Amino acid sequence: MNRLNPPPRLLMGPGPINCYPRVLNAMSTQLIGQYDPVMTGYMNEVMGVYRQVFKTDNQATLLIDGTSRAGIEAVLVSCIEPGDKVLVPIFGRFGHLLKEIAERAGADVHCIEVDWGQVFLPEQIEEAIKKVKPKVLAIVQGDTSTTMLQPLQHIGEICQRHDVLFYADATASIGGNPFETDKWQLDAVSVGLQKCLGGPSGSAPITLSDRFVELVRQRKHIEAGIKAAHHTEGQGRRIASNYFDLSMILDYWGPERLNHHTEATSMLYCARECAFTLLEEGLDNSIIRHKLHGDAMLAGVKGLNLQPFGDLKHKMNNVVGVYIPSGINGDALRMQLLHDFNIEIGTSFGPLHGKIWRIGTMGYNARKDTVLHTLQSLETLLRRAGHSMSPGQCVDNALAVYAASNL
Ligand SMILES: Cc1ncc(COP(=O)(O)O)c(C=O)c1O
Repeated sequence: MNRLNPPPRLLMGPGPINCYPRVLNAMSTQLIGQYDPVMTGYMNEVMGVYRQVFKTDNQATLLIDGTSRAGIEAVLVSCIEPGDKVLVPIFGRFGHLLKEIAERAGADVHCIEVDWGQVFLPEQIEEAIKKVKPKVLAIVQGDTSTTMLQPLQHIGEICQRHDVLFYADATASIGGNPFETDKWQLDAVSVGLQKCLGGPSGSAPITLSDRFVELVRQRKHIEAGIKAAHHTEGQGRRIASNYFDLSMILDYWGPERLNHHTEATSMLYCARECAFTLLEEGLDNSIIRHKLHGDAMLAGVKGLNLQPFGDLKHKMNNVVGVYIPSGINGDALRMQLLHDFNIEIGTSFGPLHGKIWRIGTMGYNARKDTVLHTLQSLETLLRRAGHSMSPGQCVDNALAVYAASNL
């Protein structure tokens, strides 16, 4: 049989990206039992480090086993009851995903939209809240489909004033862009590992405010096979999913350790290592690093005579969109970059498909060498495809950004 032997790609798309080597090592660490005190100790430790990552005091900070959308689904299915109103401001593909997941949970979903490449003003969101009177506002912070970062700092106060639960999907942005769970008054946040946290997909850290937990507790249900005399259930409607029932998952991560799923141990090791890597670097330093390499890549693509996409005032630090020049076959060039240079950059979705490439600089790959290699390789392929530019300008532009920051 063929041995597993993937090519040594450099992943410079919108995620997933190459893992930090120490995260890969952590994943290959031997398993221990689900209730081994060492394992439950690790679970508690993971709760603690993700409180720091999320910048929160929320006790309910834990991992959902599954990719980022598992975190989204757990949050939404656990707070939505059929007919509940949910407001989703959509500025890209992942807003549509929130809408779909909320609809599947039975919500009466209302959306507002801006063109891809733009973000919302707080007033637009408040106006929609006044009109819809939703139970939940669900919004993406960084939508990799458009590379835009929605400012969230004024939304929490609006939600509090109108008694709305405030949920954000920060999968693609956390670790590379500012994020403040408590200061911004969020009730629920979910993320994934495969972007700025520098891990693989497959674990979704979440955090929940006390008022969110209270709501979930009212829907508490205990499986018949493990129910004991001292257990009491909530009066509310049972949560529609067993796997994503946060009332049960909270009891598994809480002091009672009430059995639910078998925690994905290797992914927990991995999520732990991602958080340690980030915290050892320092949250602020990590954001500064993502901004630096994102700026260098932006300057570099301008040097390639490529036009960046969207409102650059609101660009995420860790990904840039660029228009594919007319006359160039975007997918063919991407494939050449992959096969001849072992570098992957991203295609795009929906209205942007075939119009822009997306180039990421995140996690382990937010580095000077990766930025310079990617730019130099793109220059070669674009030049050979007949695109006009000033030779060497892309790397010179990026180096000028580094020089200005003394790197
Ligand atoms: C903002 C955002 N939300 C959700 C997802 C979905 O993540 P997953 O594929 O891990 O389920 C992504 C993936 O790119 C994302 O960028």
